[in-house]
Amino acid sequence: MSEQDTPTYAGPQRVFSGIQPTGNLHLGNYLGALKKFTRLQDDGWDGIYCVVDLHAITMPYDTGAMVSQTRQIAAAMIACGLDPKRSIIFAQSSVRAHTELCWVFNCIARMGWLEKMTQFKDKAGKNSERMSVGLFDYPVLQAADILAYKATHVPVGEDQQQHLELSRDIAARFNEQYEADFFPLPEALIEGPGARIMSLKDGTKKMSKSDPAENSRINLIDDADTIAKKIKKSKTDMLGDMPSDTGGFEGRPEVKNLVGIYGALAGMSDDEVLAEYGGKGFGVFKPALAELAVEHLSPITARMRELMDNPDEIDAALRDGAERAKAIAEPIMEEVRQTVGFWRP
Ligand code: AMP
Ligand code: TRP
Repeated sequence: MSEQDTPTYAGPQRVFSGIQPTGNLHLGNYLGALKKFTRLQDDGWDGIYCVVDLHAITMPYDTGAMVSQTRQIAAAMIACGLDPKRSIIFAQSSVRAHTELCWVFNCIARMGWLEKMTQFKDKAGKNSERMSVGLFDYPVLQAADILAYKATHVPVGEDQQQHLELSRDIAARFNEQYEADFFPLPEALIEGPGARIMSLKDGTKKMSKSDPAENSRINLIDDADTIAKKIKKSKTDMLGDMPSDTGGFEGRPEVKNLVGIYGALAGMSDDEVLAEYGGKGFGVFKPALAELAVEHLSPITARMRELMDNPDEIDAALRDGAERAKAIAEPIMEEVRQTVGFWRP
């Protein structure tokens, strides 16, 4: 955090992030988010990781699948290396502070700020009149998620940049309006090779849970054969072999993406990957990438399946996480109530 951003905020440094319990987690979620969570934990950060079920109901969803989807995200967090004893893992709807602070922030955020949000425009398309008010308000709830814990750092993929800027604007406006150095201005942690993983079928579109084409993404629960098949079938182009340097990515978004995935998994830069594979055919590169992906994902998949077969363990982690999350958020909410001027019993 740069001092210039939050000159007088002197509270503890704390990490917060959230993942929606909708659809299958994929390689983009892993490289853009989950892998970073684990690294931050291992670097000694206090982290709060939330399954954002309140966000998930802003769009049509399957009521009966929600519990299992929530467990699946928690299982993935644990399988990727989050330790529920060190980090807090919980479901958003089990801590009231999120919705309460969201309401206060609804009275801070301006319509014009929300009207600029590209995620709403993308999701609503031409039908914005028929979208839920919740979908429009989605980024305000996200700001409340983060700031209910006065979190200072937020690991996310690149698609969340604009939402994080809005969270900072809300925090700054609150501080200004109430003449309090109350909230930190949370900083997005986006940098890194996995910040934007693209579809395996179209290198200009991000890999997404909601893409109807199953072959466009690698799911965390795919078995080794499926992963290998999807990589083998991934789109490349007719422009020849692997380029020898990153200049050769020009006009080849799919190739750039595959090299980026390889690098993110292996901890190598694009240049290092191309030093090894430049000039080679995709018949060589794709099997190597498939092997690398399987090597990374199969222990995670196995652990996820094990946990999903034993929901008691997941539920215990979620229950304990909710209690610890409340213990942090409730005193902050009490201060918020006093700061905005409510009568207190
Ligand atoms: P979501 O699935 O939208 O709840 O996203 C959960 C996390 O994964 C967020 O931090 C996203 O920014 C991140 N994420 C989602 N898709 C991608 C992608 N294709 N590449 C990198 N990060 C992603
Ligand atoms: N909007 C995020 C996404 O779609 C999920 C999210 C909700 C989140 N609340 C958050 C991420 C708070 C970081 C911090 O990916």
